[in-house]
Amino acid sequence: MDEPGELNVLEELKNKLDSELDTCQRYQILQLMKRHLGPVYGEFLAREDDWSPSELLDYLENNMLESQALTILSHIFSEMRLHNTTTYEPFIDYINKYFEAKGCFYHDDLIGRKKELEDIKMEIGTRKGVWVYGQGGLGKTTLVNEVCTRMKNVKKTLVKKVNLKQTQFLSTMMKLIIKQFNASFNEDVEEDLSIETVTVCLKETLNKEGRDLLLFLDNVENVYEREKEFPATINSLLRIHKNVKWIMTSRLPFESSEEDLCHYNLGPLSSMDAQTLLRLYCRPVRFLCRLRRRT
Ligand SMILES: Nc1ncnc2c1ncn2[C@@H]1O[C@H](COP(=O)(O)OP(=O)(O)OP(=O)(O)O)[C@@H](O)[C@H]1O
Ligand SMILES: [Mg+2]
Repeated sequence: MDEPGELNVLEELKNKLDSELDTCQRYQILQLMKRHLGPVYGEFLAREDDWSPSELLDYLENNMLESQALTILSHIFSEMRLHNTTTYEPFIDYINKYFEAKGCFYHDDLIGRKKELEDIKMEIGTRKGVWVYGQGGLGKTTLVNEVCTRMKNVKKTLVKKVNLKQTQFLSTMMKLIIKQFNASFNEDVEEDLSIETVTVCLKETLNKEGRDLLLFLDNVENVYEREKEFPATINSLLRIHKNVKWIMTSRLPFESSEEDLCHYNLGPLSSMDAQTLLRLYCRPVRFLCRLRRRT
């Protein structure tokens, strides 16, 4: 099975399972799924016959986020492996790779935002940084987490994330950046760092890794609001090296202008995507849109 390229993991699994599983295996998946999902879902999965794997996966997709659906599938494949000789390794491997790529960002799956994803990926390809701003809870962090997952998984970029939600000081921000590259660095003890120290650290990492570097500074608004030096520091960070890119999320727009930085104003979700998000919080739901019961 291919690497999870553009991360359409569920879609690819649907095709793969539909074409490769026999009736007996389908039945087994259905039974195990009922067990894993519990009695609330059992009622909806009461039909015993001719469920195609893609219908079952559509059902999961309608009721939960992609990562939850894949976790359930992964358990099901592991159990099936215990019970018969069929090898499910390729499926399990495939799901594991997907989680490896997502793992370091600890994020929920993204709903909608296709255009925004493409916009930001394009901007980060051509500029040194992107400043994503918009009101609280709009989905800035969620969106950029997904951008980072794709950069890491598809472009093989080394991606590091620093969450600055609890941070107000520029000095702490710089230390947290360094800590990403040196786990034994103690930010409570070490004295203030200069921009040169960060520059040296990032250039060394570039040399050692031999691949591009993307730093995601999440929730920077508190440091920005408090520290006058913040814009100058960001501008220096943007100039460190052409292969070191930056994405920041902030509730506030960035007032400083710097041609290497794209200012990206994130709007609300489309009403259809907002409905999907709401629907997922009201699960389980009956079969909607994609899933049609056969008569
Ligand atoms: N497109 C989306 N798909 C799935 N979940 C989303 C989406 N947008 C927002 N959410 C959910 O909404 C919540 C808030 O999103 P997020 O933390 O990304 O917002 P934010 O703009 O970064 O907020 P803040 O300004 O407080 O940092 C999260 O629980 C997230 O899972
Ligand atoms: Mg955020």
